[in-house]
Formats: sequence, C-alpha cells, structure tokens
Amino acid sequence: MFQHVETAPPDSILGLNEAFRNDPNPEKINLSVGVYKDEQGVTPVLKCVKEAEKRLLEGETTKSYLPIDGRAGYNNAVRTLMFGSDHEVITAKRAVTVQTPGGTGALRVAGDFIADSFPGATLWHSQPTWPNHPSIFTAAGLKLKTYPYFNKATNGLDFDGMLGALQGAGKGDVVLLHGCCHNPTGIDPTPEQWKAIADLIQEKQLLPLLDFAYQGFGDGLVEDAIGLREVARPGQEMIICSSFSKNFGLYNERVGAMTAVAANEAEATAVLSQLKKVIRSNYSNPPTHGAAVVETVLTDDGLRKMWEDELTHMRDRINGIRKLFVDKISACGIDQDFSFIQNQKGMFSFSGLNQMQVDQLRSDMSIYIVGSGRINVAGISEANVDRLCEGIKKVTS
Ligand code: LMR
Repeated sequence: MFQHVETAPPDSILGLNEAFRNDPNPEKINLSVGVYKDEQGVTPVLKCVKEAEKRLLEGETTKSYLPIDGRAGYNNAVRTLMFGSDHEVITAKRAVTVQTPGGTGALRVAGDFIADSFPGATLWHSQPTWPNHPSIFTAAGLKLKTYPYFNKATNGLDFDGMLGALQGAGKGDVVLLHGCCHNPTGIDPTPEQWKAIADLIQEKQLLPLLDFAYQGFGDGLVEDAIGLREVARPGQEMIICSSFSKNFGLYNERVGAMTAVAANEAEATAVLSQLKKVIRSNYSNPPTHGAAVVETVLTDDGLRKMWEDELTHMRDRINGIRKLFVDKISACGIDQDFSFIQNQKGMFSFSGLNQMQVDQLRSDMSIYIVGSGRINVAGISEANVDRLCEGIKKVTS
C-alpha cells in the first residue's frame, strides 16, 4: 500500500535541529531553530513558569475537556496583553480569541477559517517569510502571492516595493504581516511605516493577518504592539495569531491563540462560532497546561512582574550578543560589513550568507544556520562567538 510514498525532504528549520543532534562534533554550534538560549547554551524554564506550575499542580481538581475555544481567562489575558485593557476593540467586545496549540496551530485555524468563509481568497505574504507560512496556508487551500520585503542593498526594509506590490491586492485579500521581530529578517517597519501600511489596508479594504509570535523580544511588550495597535483602527477587522513559545519559553507546551477582530460584537460572535467549527474537526479542543500557566502568570501581579523582568533579561542578552557579534566580526578582519545586524530586532538576523556559505559552515565546522542565511542570535554566546567568526571569515574570504 505504501510503495508509492516518497520520502519527503527534511523541514528547512526543524530538520536542521535533528541533524545538529546527530552531529558528534563537540564544538558544534546551533543557530538554526528560533529558541532562546542563555549564556550557557541552555533554554531555561522561566522562574515565573515554575512558580505557576507549583500552584497549578496543588490546585488542579480535574482533567476534563476544555471548551472548544479553550480557557476563557487565558483568552481574555491574551487580548489584554496585545491591545491593553482599555482599547476600543476590547471595550466594544468586537474581538474574540480561541486558544490554540501554539502559534502554528493559530495560523492553521486562521487559514481554515479564511478558506471556509472567504472562498477563493488570496493571501499575500512577505518575501522572504517564515518557510512554514506558505506551507500552512497552501495546506489550508488558499492562493498565495508575495510582496517584496528585504532590500539587499540597504539590508533594510524594501518599503516602496512592499507598498507598491500591495497596491495590486484586491478588496478582501488577506495580507500577512509580522507583528514584530520579522522572521527571518529581523527588520520591522517604523511607527510611520506602520501608519502607511494601516492606511493602505483601510483604503484597499484588505484583511490584515498579523503573526505575533515575539511580543517583548524587540523593544518591549508595549513597544512591540505598536504596529498591531495602529492597524486596529475603529471598525477595522483583523486576525492575530499569537504565541507564548518564545516570550514564556513554553515551546513544548504549544501555547498560542487566534484572535479575530470583527466590525462589531454580533459579527464577532458569528466568527467565534465558525472558529469553533474549524477547531472541532481538527483537534477538537486544546490542551490546558501551558495556557493555564500563562493565565496564572498574567493575572497575578507578583508573577507578572517576575515574568516581565525575565523577558527583559532575555531581550537584553540578545541585544548584547548582537553587539558582541558585530564587534568580533569586525575585529577578526572580515571584509563584509555586518554592522546592520545590530539594528535588527528579535531573535533572528538575516546574515547575508548564501546557501553555499551556509552549507560550507555546516560541513566544515558543524555550524548550523538556516539556508536563507538566517541566524538565531540567541544561540551565540561568549563561548562560541570566536569560533563562529572564524567560520564566517573562512566562508566569506
Ligand atoms: C523558527 O522560525 O525557528 C521557529 O518559529 C520555530 C519553528 O517552528 O520554525
């Protein structure tokens, strides 16, 4: 029966992780998957998470099913964290949230909902984008188009190219935007550019879909929500897919959410019913643990403060590493200018290394970087930065 089944190629990100695990080189360096690591190369469990887990274990009374849309308290906390408690979309009750298995689960729920409720819809995504975006939305049956995003000459945002391409989008088309810390480039629009993007969305009546997986990793929790809050103008409809994998370090608990903002409360209620339908035929209802942790932390003043401090520490370490990396690169006499890395936001940097150089780093030095040249900056440490620079020097000279 299975004779015709061909072996699929490994995933361009998670496949590298597997290859890294099997690499016997004791000096190997993993800068592939987007996972935070501390100076010792460990992905820690946050202290606030450990404390919340203690409380949950003591207070847990049942393992019965959650509702299809998940924990109400969690869904509330997610919306408030994104918009702030007094934002119009919250007070007008025109936002509904469903708890999902990770940000990827949220994107798939969004894709299925769009395919069901907007048949024939086209989704525009940045070029480049996270490689799983096209996979998810193609699997959901959407048509895809791209808009330029990265300007190779400036190592910055190709803003004119982006807006120019989106001028070609039709009414009702979906525009996928990265809420902050663009994956893979680390380049975000400025607040003024977000205004222009929001203007275009309104003018052309597009449906914005924000992938918001790194809140707090760029400039701060509120600062990173600037784009999202700019797009959420009165009456504007939108979808947000968010995740607590990174900012809570809850990667393997799969904690995400999909929020739909409708024009009014009645339409939001109808959208929620459709989301539940999509979820029921997919994974039925979400797992509770990770979401319970997030809810506990976000709704307790002491734990919340502890979390914000821990998040600030992760962000500061990444920014410190960016500087260290750029300094070391220039100190070791590499001709190419890598100073732009210091201006990029979040976990990732688009290094400008090409596929051949990436392959050589892996085969010659066991340094693992995604084929696009994307580097997980959080994987760099004082202990491995010299070896990394030596490798980059070798493949770029
Ligand atoms: C990444 O981009 O490395 C992360 O979002 C992990 C993943 O699922 O690809």
